[in-house]
Amino acid sequence: MALPPTPAASFASDNAAGASPEVMDALVAANSGPALAYGADAWTAAATEELRELFGAPVEVVFCWGGTGANVVGLATLLTPWQSVITVDTAHIVVDECGAPARFTGSSITPVPQVDGKLTIEAVHPFVDWLGTEHHPQPKVLSVSQVTEMGTLYSAAELAALASFAHEHDMYLHVDGARIANAVAASGTGIRELIVEPGVDVLTFGLTKNGAIYGEAVVYLRPELAADARFIRKQAGQLPSKTRFVAAQASALLADDLWLRNARHANDMAALLAELVAEIPGVEVPVAPAANAVFARIPWDRLADLQAWSFFWEWDPQEHLVRWMTSFTTTEDDVRTFAGGVRAILAEDGA
Ligand SMILES: Cc1ncc(COP(=O)(O)O)c(C=O)c1O
Repeated sequence: MALPPTPAASFASDNAAGASPEVMDALVAANSGPALAYGADAWTAAATEELRELFGAPVEVVFCWGGTGANVVGLATLLTPWQSVITVDTAHIVVDECGAPARFTGSSITPVPQVDGKLTIEAVHPFVDWLGTEHHPQPKVLSVSQVTEMGTLYSAAELAALASFAHEHDMYLHVDGARIANAVAASGTGIRELIVEPGVDVLTFGLTKNGAIYGEAVVYLRPELAADARFIRKQAGQLPSKTRFVAAQASALLADDLWLRNARHANDMAALLAELVAEIPGVEVPVAPAANAVFARIPWDRLADLQAWSFFWEWDPQEHLVRWMTSFTTTEDDVRTFAGGVRAILAEDGA
């Protein structure tokens, strides 16, 4: 069977996509005249106000260069070195940040087993016994990713339960929201219902995967927690000199709900991809995608041929699972082409 041309979109990750045209326009518009550096500019003030309006709360906001840096800044404001973060063993802060949060906070990160990518109170509970004993790191932060690394979503009720548990034990709930837009779009509610009302303390509000060229915002839902944030951001190397260009991107994404439209589109493309590939003999989609990641089990001896045709990352070699991601740039045509290519390659005998 002849292979279709490689799709124009990459299914490797949502950060393989470029930026939204509206974001590029906003960058050009922000490139007019001088503006004071380090966030003392009109774009930063406007984007901060827009985020306050979105959250319906007097949140404090610090813009950072990237997702790892935003997690470092958010966590460092909550911790002293003898305290610790409890999170799942699949968390980005554990697996994919080269130890940056542990290095910059000086705190240990305690990874616990996940259930569907999520942190459970059962997994956290034993560590409460460590509180008050000087030999143990003192648990201070529960950290979760929304969307999780396994492509799943916490419901508002699940986040509320984690936040209550954290607060009962004088801890905080931190959310790595690199894909918060996909989560809100998938939840069918708003960010107030999904993040504010459950009692999240600090959130990384992801921009990059949603259509920015770079930049993320750390949002402090309890403004008093941001008291040292600007110092920590600077020391962590996360204060962009020309912050206006990060803020302008945030405003472009927030305007007319572009952030949600982009995310909804990515989520819809993942749903379509899951539907199409599940019909291919040899492919199994164990769980319907909750947002913009499709996890699929494939015949492992065909992995290299598939990757050579249109590159993507393997997820779990033991389980023969791969991850296919969609973004705001993925078109229906890309999805159909990709599924067609997978079908054609798997139909070959592989000899
Ligand atoms: C869950 C999660 N958190 C944070 C990040 C941000 O990482 P980066 O430092 O590459 O922007 C990513 C990017 O892949 C991610 O998937």
